Amino acid sequence: MKNSIVMKLALVFIVSLMLYACSSHAPLMQVASPDGKTVLTFDLAENGAPTYSVEKNGKAVLKPSALGFMEANRELMHGFKVKNVLQQSHNDTWETVWGEERYIVDNHNEMKVRLLHEDGIRMDVVFRVFDDGFAFRYEFPEGRKKMTILDEYTSYCFAEEPQVWSIPWRTEYYEGLWEKKALSQLDTVCSPITLEMADGTYAFVHEAALTNFPAENFYADKQTLHTHLTPWRNENGDMDEKAYITTPFSTPWRFVILAPTLRELVASRIMLNLNEPCKIEDTSWIHPMKFIGIWWGMHQKSMTWEAGPKHGATTKNMKKYLQFAHDHGIGGVLAEGWNLGWETWENFDFTTPYPDWDMDAISAYADELGVAIVGHNETGGNAADYENDLDKIYAYHQQHHIQNIKTGYVSPIVRTNDGLQWNKGQSGVRHYRKVIETAAKYHICIDNHEPVMPTGLQRTWPNLLTQEGVRGQEWNAWSQDGGNPCEHVTVLPFTRIMAGPVDYTPGVFNFANPIIPGTRVHATLMNQLGLFVCFYSPLQMACDLPENYMLHPDAFRFVEEVPCDWEKSILLDGRIGDFVVFARQDRNSDNWYVGGITDEESREQTVRLDFLEANRKYIATIYRDKNTADWETNPYAYEIETREVTAADTVSLRMAAGGGFAISLAATEAE
Ligand code: NOJ
Repeated sequence: MKNSIVMKLALVFIVSLMLYACSSHAPLMQVASPDGKTVLTFDLAENGAPTYSVEKNGKAVLKPSALGFMEANRELMHGFKVKNVLQQSHNDTWETVWGEERYIVDNHNEMKVRLLHEDGIRMDVVFRVFDDGFAFRYEFPEGRKKMTILDEYTSYCFAEEPQVWSIPWRTEYYEGLWEKKALSQLDTVCSPITLEMADGTYAFVHEAALTNFPAENFYADKQTLHTHLTPWRNENGDMDEKAYITTPFSTPWRFVILAPTLRELVASRIMLNLNEPCKIEDTSWIHPMKFIGIWWGMHQKSMTWEAGPKHGATTKNMKKYLQFAHDHGIGGVLAEGWNLGWETWENFDFTTPYPDWDMDAISAYADELGVAIVGHNETGGNAADYENDLDKIYAYHQQHHIQNIKTGYVSPIVRTNDGLQWNKGQSGVRHYRKVIETAAKYHICIDNHEPVMPTGLQRTWPNLLTQEGVRGQEWNAWSQDGGNPCEHVTVLPFTRIMAGPVDYTPGVFNFANPIIPGTRVHATLMNQLGLFVCFYSPLQMACDLPENYMLHPDAFRFVEEVPCDWEKSILLDGRIGDFVVFARQDRNSDNWYVGGITDEESREQTVRLDFLEANRKYIATIYRDKNTADWETNPYAYEIETREVTAADTVSLRMAAGGGFAISLAATEAE
């Protein structure tokens, strides 16, 4: 990664090269994690079916589990012989362009099992075992073969039945409420899933570096989890075909984090380590920032995307928002509905503004104030037209100094250059990648709404700043089911956000919506502050209207101040679906920030400050629910206290039902 310092040179060496002279009766092949506690074993059954199993601390985690594919012309799940096995080790530390922490250690042992199928097809399985989990991918090393994948047989046969947090696989662009069920009770669900293991430990199953392949989903049969790839579609609906590949080809990585505690689960960086290093040489134009937007008003229906008397994206309004951002140290302003096409949601024009939007004047004003414009390209599901015009569209945005674009699709079935396809099928995956890579050419960063589930591509393409793929705050503005229950936000850090940054859009300061009665944010104001620390996004939207922020200027100070690019991040406490407490250190100062959120239960929380530098004083500003606060009856009851603290101190507070807290810890001069 340019901008990154390799702390230790990669230590890559061949440990052993075992030749089996094409034997199907090879001895067991094993690879262990660097700490020796996790051991993965590869085996071939009598019929040449490849399997793998995993032990941790001497105890089975996965019993022999299947590997392979159903290809159009043959079953690639048996009939294999082992050609040879290569083992190597790797240990280095790389620097992120932005992230939850600056430095990431990649320490793993690798075993590549090179297989030959009886039909003459070569297939390798590359395993990597880390201290906090394992991964593998399939490689078809021989060139110029066209293959049609009908099914992937990868399975995970759990030794004991876990409880699984998931959303159903047909959840439109992942905007669902996560549910916990015993593994054997699962229907087909999206990747990722988070597991509470029978022994009280945790696991997370997902894929990394999703490239030119359909997104994976899972279904269960008793205690075994099976892979279901998102299918191609034709005019009759879903097809049997899942992926068309041309060899040489490597699939995305399949990985499993195994962690004794939630703190270690969320600290795992396996997914990023499995992605390729940064492909952008000069990353100096990529800037994490907070932004506000002409946005919440449309969701609450006090403004419109389309032109008319309530049109939101007007020159006048945008100048007001830009001025507000400037005055409050907010980096950017999003404007939706600035371009032609919103009346019908068809034929969006990404280079022609509505007449009441003066692009040149707005761009000049934004430059004068030093505030970034966050552009918006809603495709309405027409990915093909958007893709075919990308160069023209991004050149236009670049010309107007728009360096960030929020893209949108609003349909789980999008029109790609391959016809109507699942957005998370192979064609959709290719489209999203084309967008990111083309945007990079124009120095444009992307906030992708209705995406395919993130898989860590931001390591390779750090201009992919954030994505939606979540039932976000907007549901609180209009959902007929009453909005996101309090529990929802306490599940996401352990599920969806494990897959990457999330554009949830925290920061509602006014819970009334006079225009759509019955809708409501299930939170106290302090919970909304806590989200800025608990939910990670390098492009973090404070979603409410400027006038609502000015109802509580003292609480808004936290939003002004809280960073969104971190030196370090630590989960201090939490339980999936109950509560979350994170501490994070600013990447550009010695200051720390702590955020807490709870579900519908109020709770007492003690925050030990022992993560702070010893012997240093910090000025703590504590934003907390008053004892009388409650999300339903008294959401605005908060108090703010300032005091001097050190690493030896603790802060005790009470989170109200649906409540939370935020603490900023400003470092004083070191003594
Ligand atoms: C859905 C997106 O999630 C939302 O943020 C956006 O405002 C609308 N689509 C319109 O593009």
